[in-house]
Amino acid sequence: MKIAFFDSGIGGLSVLHHAMRVLPHEQFVFYADEDHVPYGVKTQEEVRGFVQEAFDFLLTRDVKAIVVACNTATSVAVKDMRRRYDIPIIGMEPAAKKALDLDGEHRVLVTATPITVKGKKMKVLIDRVDKEHLVDLLPLPRLVEFAEREEFESQAVTDYLQQEFSAFDLAEYSALVLGCTHFNYFKDTMRRLMPPAMHFVDGNAGTVRELVRRLKERHALEDLPQTIEYYYSGRLVREEAELQRIGRYLKRLDKVYELN
Ligand code: DGL
Repeated sequence: MKIAFFDSGIGGLSVLHHAMRVLPHEQFVFYADEDHVPYGVKTQEEVRGFVQEAFDFLLTRDVKAIVVACNTATSVAVKDMRRRYDIPIIGMEPAAKKALDLDGEHRVLVTATPITVKGKKMKVLIDRVDKEHLVDLLPLPRLVEFAEREEFESQAVTDYLQQEFSAFDLAEYSALVLGCTHFNYFKDTMRRLMPPAMHFVDGNAGTVRELVRRLKERHALEDLPQTIEYYYSGRLVREEAELQRIGRYLKRLDKVYELN
């Protein structure tokens, strides 16, 4: 059986990209909800509906686990999905704890989409892990649009980030949390704007570790040649131009993979 990765768009490829290295003998299905991206600026009800639709589709694809490679969808809908479906569902939330554990003294800047920043799940997370009140939150919705149109290093991206970061004294921060999977594509651009000591923290490795743990627990790991099927909102991606687009994202992820 296959492992599904689901995101509002191409951000989730960053989690799949890591899983491809860790699990070379698994078969993957990747679902990007390209008809409805971005999620982060929509209402919770809308997002819940989109996630439900995607899950209903994925459950017809013979999958043994679903990774919600989207912090926004996790924030809004993971609880409902777990109640509804009896397969392992691995969600993602901004890796604030991991960032605080790196240092524990300096501040931590958590970036995410507006829905994730405002969500109840974020409040619960911060109350639980940020005892010293070191965490600040910053929504960066435009990065999702930039990522979807493969605009990673333009002047517009740099200006946007510079403007958003200007509200913070970055010298006081030790870590920047990438709390949206679309933000991974901008690690090199962000690196240029950050003090050299700043760490980038994302949830990709932790999410894949949890996936492996859940599959092992069920004795559900395979030993097959790795394959990946891509879907845009329920349509199999088979056109050359679209497959090439996905290939460019994966190449970009190769480039930024080691930056931290
Ligand atoms: N990639 C998604 C996340 O991790 C959301 C992007 C969006 O659709 O706004 O939150």
